[in-house]
Amino acid sequence: MKSIVARAANWQRTVSLALPRHFGSACEAAGAAAGFRTSISGPTRPPLPPVPDKIKELGRVTQAPIEQAKVMHPAFYVDKDYVQVEQERIFGSSWFAAAHVHELMNPGDVKVIEAGNTSIILTRDKNHKLNAFYNTCRHRGARVLSADSKGCKQLVCPYHWWAYRLDGTLKSTPPAAVPKERKEELSLLPVAGLECFAGMIFLNQTPNPPPLLSTLGDLPEKLARYDLDQMDMHAQKTYEIGGDWKLIAENFVDFYHIDAVHPALSKFSRVDDHLPYQGNGQYVGFVTSPLSASGGPGDLHHFNAFPRLKPLESNSALFFHIFPNVSVTIYPHSVYTLMTCPSKTPGRTQERLTLLMAPGAKKQDISADEHREKCEALMDFVVNINDEDVIAIENLQLGLRNLNGQGMHGEFLPKYDWPVHRFQNMVLSSLQGNLLDNAIMPELGNQFEDRVISDVVSE
Ligand code: FES
Ligand SMILES: [Fe+2]
Repeated sequence: MKSIVARAANWQRTVSLALPRHFGSACEAAGAAAGFRTSISGPTRPPLPPVPDKIKELGRVTQAPIEQAKVMHPAFYVDKDYVQVEQERIFGSSWFAAAHVHELMNPGDVKVIEAGNTSIILTRDKNHKLNAFYNTCRHRGARVLSADSKGCKQLVCPYHWWAYRLDGTLKSTPPAAVPKERKEELSLLPVAGLECFAGMIFLNQTPNPPPLLSTLGDLPEKLARYDLDQMDMHAQKTYEIGGDWKLIAENFVDFYHIDAVHPALSKFSRVDDHLPYQGNGQYVGFVTSPLSASGGPGDLHHFNAFPRLKPLESNSALFFHIFPNVSVTIYPHSVYTLMTCPSKTPGRTQERLTLLMAPGAKKQDISADEHREKCEALMDFVVNINDEDVIAIENLQLGLRNLNGQGMHGEFLPKYDWPVHRFQNMVLSSLQGNLLDNAIMPELGNQFEDRVISDVVSE
């Protein structure tokens, strides 16, 4: 059994080999826009216990080429012992998406993120820097904050009123006065890793985590002409879903269900129009191209596109699930994301759907009010599709509870289920502290990628 120390060493080795050449500039650009910070010293943590043999055994049949593999065992979605292991090893040890930078644009913006048993406070401090702290007071350990807020001057623990600045330092311990040097030791505990990518804030609780970009492979290159850190956030909707967070991710990458679950969408987004757009990073990617007009609010003529796209990109929709917990749909004029936080209870997840518009998406010949109505219509359209997905996910969770009783694995249909197989293998690799083994992933072909590479940038 690998110790956590060995696991970290392996991971670090993978990182130094896989680090993209453009890492520095891309990362600094994100940081400049969003108050980038990473890898500060966080609390020391006890080593994780070994992965239980039962989990390794149950995962083995999925960790195989898709033609031989079986779908991940239902226990992974319903068993509370498994959920505990997953929270320690995935959300406790990998980069995960916590929020959009837009949600914390101004000094005084504060957000509370619950990821399983862990509660984290995100802040934008007076120096415009983003911070992440464990939501636990340094006095007796009470939860400091229970809700998001704006215009916040300090974080005050409700138990005895210890107050912290937005950079986490302890400000006061009323009515007692604590010596300055003692106060300096009693800041809120920082989360070790915080990085921004594609307009989103990612966190990592591992001490000295590897750079986020080292896990993403070629994804930053695929997104190079989409100005994702300059978008305008239009709206957000929160769902409480009776389904495991992994089912939400799997549903996103499962375009096979479109005909059955989304009858209206299927008229212009056909199952067989989805092509792989997949590289080696910790993500699942595919695309629909060309886009067909539906007569609906997402049609291209309603908005301006991202300005630097290639012609092919201006007529394509991109779909990426960034492991573990954020799904990103990229239209030429807008983006919507599904970000999930697992709850403490197996089979329950909070999901946040966010719609963001490309910079300059408003058509010059319409008023601001007309533009807002168009954005609202687009949000309604996206919410309708997501509502259909939520019904499908909750029904799948119920079916898996049944199937767990039978001790049975589901089946993959390789032509359509390769994205689900890839995601499930990322879960299983991550539980064991490894990146995905691409050697057992299928050859998908580069049909779309080749066309993008040979395409020219539009003027
Ligand atoms: S526990 Fe927070 S002030 Fe006492
Ligand atoms: Fe769907």
